[in-house]
Amino acid sequence: MKNNIQILQPDDWHVHFREGAMLKVVSHFSARINRRCIAMPNTNTPITESNQAVNYKAEIQNNSKSEDFEILIPCYLTENLDLNDFKEGLKKNIFIGAKLYPNNVTTNSSLGVSKIENIYPALEILEKENKVLLVHGEKIRKDIDIFDREKYFIDQELNKIRDKFKELKIVLEHVSTSYGIDFVKSNNLMGGTITPHHMLLTKKDVFIDDSINPYHFCMPVAKTEKDLIAIRKAACHQNKKFFLGTDSAPHHINHKLKNILSKPGIFSAVSSLELYASIFEEENSLRNLEVFSSINGPKFYNLPVNKKNITLTNEQWLVPEFIEDNNIKIKNFYGGKKLNWKVKN
Ligand code: DOR
Ligand code: ZN
Repeated sequence: MKNNIQILQPDDWHVHFREGAMLKVVSHFSARINRRCIAMPNTNTPITESNQAVNYKAEIQNNSKSEDFEILIPCYLTENLDLNDFKEGLKKNIFIGAKLYPNNVTTNSSLGVSKIENIYPALEILEKENKVLLVHGEKIRKDIDIFDREKYFIDQELNKIRDKFKELKIVLEHVSTSYGIDFVKSNNLMGGTITPHHMLLTKKDVFIDDSINPYHFCMPVAKTEKDLIAIRKAACHQNKKFFLGTDSAPHHINHKLKNILSKPGIFSAVSSLELYASIFEEENSLRNLEVFSSINGPKFYNLPVNKKNITLTNEQWLVPEFIEDNNIKIKNFYGGKKLNWKVKN
């Protein structure tokens, strides 16, 4: 067994930093490892304009306790977007692309999109500017089972977008089904982010008898063992189109416990790379970790690969159960459990 592994410094292509006091507490956990992060724009006041993105970027960078940490922000798509500002924001690289949240699918998505056709003008601009569409791929309708939301979104919405905007680069975020994996694999100009929790949890870890484990509840919800196996295989063994995106999404435990269903999200930033390393080791594919964590993402986004290296040591450590700071208390994913890999400082 190796004692150390060295890989190019990773990037996290999907993180939630929130704002204010929460942001102060969580941002340095991502900055300790990653050189770049995509900060998701579903803040309490969503980031729909370029001046908000400029300020948000500065807020995260100033609180990250790291000098060489770059924040990339996609514009939150709404049906009433200021298209001139959007286009300028893309041209000036203030926006890395745009994030599509279907209306009311997850945290702070009430300004999200109800009718896909209404954002076609924005998608046209994205395509022309050669920027990326990031997609929360779930369709919500009363008659659609929570476990089928990703499949319905792909069949009824993503397929339409894919057909109409043939040159548009699209990321299916936090792929949660084998159906989603196959869709990404079989389509040009598509990539997918994969979270640690979708490689560790199934619905049995979320829905237990008549209750829900709030700390395992996220959107898209964890699916079946078959799905988990397909996701692991895609990340660890066939990983040309898939890259690291933790979807680390902190919520104060009081909010998590009070109304479980309205606060989906799993906070994994404290042990993110270590979780991925442990999973890749279980899959006997540690040699493929670097391509997933540090190469496929920049290649997809057409950005340079990082230059520095980072070292993981084969050393057991206990993930703390909670992060408590500044009147904020967050439950860590995998908190109270041991991991065999640790990032060397
Ligand atoms: O579980 C989730 N939490 N999924 C998302 O898509 C958003 C995130 C959040 O912002 O809390
Ligand atoms: Zn997310």
